[in-house]
Amino acid sequence: MWSKASPVPRNEFLKGVTGVNGIFCALTDKIDKELLDAAGESLKVVATISVGYDHIDVAECKKRNIRIGYTPDVLTNATAELTMALLLSTSRRLPEAQHEAKTGGWVAWAPTWMTGPGLAGATVGIVGFGRIGQAVARRVKSFNTAHILYYNRSERPEAIETGAIKTSFEELLSRSDFVICCAALVPDTKEIFNKAAFEKMKKTAVFVNTSRGGTVDQNALIEALQTNTIRAAGLDVTTPEPLPLDSPLFKLKNCVVLPHIGSASIEARNTMSELTANNILAALKGTINMPAELIA
Ligand code: DGY
Repeated sequence: MWSKASPVPRNEFLKGVTGVNGIFCALTDKIDKELLDAAGESLKVVATISVGYDHIDVAECKKRNIRIGYTPDVLTNATAELTMALLLSTSRRLPEAQHEAKTGGWVAWAPTWMTGPGLAGATVGIVGFGRIGQAVARRVKSFNTAHILYYNRSERPEAIETGAIKTSFEELLSRSDFVICCAALVPDTKEIFNKAAFEKMKKTAVFVNTSRGGTVDQNALIEALQTNTIRAAGLDVTTPEPLPLDSPLFKLKNCVVLPHIGSASIEARNTMSELTANNILAALKGTINMPAELIA
């Protein structure tokens, strides 16, 4: 058991796992060959309290016949809600406006002061159209957007519900007023948002990322924001996490940074916690009657 709020230090983790049958971990815990070796042959399951499992060496687990538990579905609504909150905070400049209100910048109502682009009539592009991308699309649609575009490896039949249209990555970038990244971090999506990608976006585009910081070349993003290559960015995820206080992202007025709280609704976190524990029990008992979300 690790009861502190900060992640378990690596050397404590390596010491503590020896001989365990299951590991309940978070996205802050790297589960790699070294850790699996330290656990030894008794290890049967690694369950993470997250839908993303890019911190787990899946191939190495498969080789050793270790099951992997994760928590899809139960955090979809929470993450889609946070994505909308971040999208609106960024486009309508809520943190900046609150700062002005609290520090005397609110002199009077003025026609163009604190203005930002609205969603009604806009084109929204969603990169990664899995459960969360689709849930974001449903919410975005209710804002009377003109078009929803998505980029995904495969065509998603669920797109019919929102009328989202599959495009190439490049077309999505050049047509969208809002670009939202909901893609899992895999080799194909690593730094997919690079200098070339930001240059393809509209100068007025708002970029939002609630998936993983690794999908973005962060230096390229900083440059795009500093040079107004794009209008603004809202980030719930960064590289590294926590983002160092001296990061240029914190100094930019056109960037909103949140501390990776996408799934942080009370309901989602409680359910994620139970599901992770049940995934361990299901893997150890080999039952299929328990709620289990297991891969490998
Ligand atoms: C996940 O589950 O992967 C989120 O990033 C944190 O809840």
